[in-house]
Amino acid sequence: MFRDQRLGEISGDVLDFLSSREADRRIFAADLLVDRSHLVMLKEQGLISSEVCSQIMAALDEIGATDAASGAGEDVHEAIEAGVLARVGPEGGRMHTGRSRNDEVATCIRLALRAEMLDLMTEQLSFVQTLVRLAAEHKETIIPGFTHTQHAQPTTLAHHLLAHADAAARDLARMEDAYARVNLSPLGAAAFASTGFAIDRMRTCHLLGFDGLVENSMDAVSTRDFILEVLADLSIMMVNLSRLAEELILWSTSEFGYLELDNLYASTSSIMPQKKNPDTAELARGKTGSVIGSLMAALSICKGLPLSYNRDLQEVTPHLWRSLDWARSTVRILDGCVSSLKFNQERMEKSSGAGFSTATELADSLVRITGMPFRTAHRVVGRIAASGESPTLTELDEIALEIAGFRASERGFSDADLQRALDPRSNVALRANTGGPAPAETGRMIEERLERIATGEVRLAGRRSRVERALEELRAVK
Ligand code: ARG
Repeated sequence: MFRDQRLGEISGDVLDFLSSREADRRIFAADLLVDRSHLVMLKEQGLISSEVCSQIMAALDEIGATDAASGAGEDVHEAIEAGVLARVGPEGGRMHTGRSRNDEVATCIRLALRAEMLDLMTEQLSFVQTLVRLAAEHKETIIPGFTHTQHAQPTTLAHHLLAHADAAARDLARMEDAYARVNLSPLGAAAFASTGFAIDRMRTCHLLGFDGLVENSMDAVSTRDFILEVLADLSIMMVNLSRLAEELILWSTSEFGYLELDNLYASTSSIMPQKKNPDTAELARGKTGSVIGSLMAALSICKGLPLSYNRDLQEVTPHLWRSLDWARSTVRILDGCVSSLKFNQERMEKSSGAGFSTATELADSLVRITGMPFRTAHRVVGRIAASGESPTLTELDEIALEIAGFRASERGFSDADLQRALDPRSNVALRANTGGPAPAETGRMIEERLERIATGEVRLAGRRSRVERALEELRAVK
């Protein structure tokens, strides 16, 4: 406790109220690294002796082997320093030369967050890959497409899965963008106004594997916008995942019956023995609300805070860790759930023509073959749809005559054209424009996405190895 005689000791409720020890478990390992980098720099700058540096390093090694929760203090920084002082004596107090807990905590959060983001991004990439690979198996699987949750037009399962894959890839791209702003070093900002000691900020920056500085020392300790950004990105990701989760729930009902979750991802009812509930998908949907709540909480805490450091900021961090846990587990669980789905292809294909979902193609065919304007064709087909039955050519001709002033067959529209227009599979085959569901086009998209995944893997491995190399060197310093 950095309290002198002036303030006296505190304990009980007040200490609990001030404490960040619980959340600080997440930055314990990072704090030891931050301490090491600072010590190396202080030694190189001639601000502490090699001897004191080695003694403190040895103490840090011992502390690293203990439990993050051990040691006294309102936060992990105090606890580690108390541990150093207990082992080294007053000379251990040189560790805090030219720094403050304000730059220290900001650095620790960024380090710990960076590691979490690398793991999350790996899982995101795997999830994108799962969706794309599954799509590759279902280029020919015809399913109904929906708007307003009403049968709209036939499409393929590949097309549908690729839509989720592209959303998941954007979620990953957002995380990569945020990473560039997270992986920056605030260390050396001290309380906020820098320090009169001749420290070297770039040295600690490199030792810790950061890509650059949060330069302005006032900004460096004040900002948590990197947390807000990550929470916003996590929220968007969860919103996307919740839409997929919702479809898993809906499509597994007996009304839809399009798919079945593997038993591992389902639960049963405590009273209704026949039930198989999609609990994992429901929790994915539910946790989305929790993550959005964290974003709202963090935004609200930061709003209106004057510069520079305010203790309110301590209250932001737990929301970050909690949301990262929820989001990461959701990606992982949905990845497993999606890759083990059993699709009822027959049922999906059968219902792909339901609700006269081929109506658009019938109207389009009338335009292409007879030359009638699309709006007229829309009215003709609309009249047919009102009767609820697939039309014969004679019925189509009668309605066309009434609305367009000529019979469709007079202008070369044959029975074969009608049957083709009403067939979901040929509907899909016709939609071969860029981004459409025709198998050749989804095939092209799949190939392209697989290439992007491969380059994404290389980029991620590069980030990870740059960080790991720096930290390995730092850990090896005696
Ligand atoms: N536990 C604090 C936090 O998480 C560390 C910084 C404390 N700084 C201070 N000036 N009291 O924000």
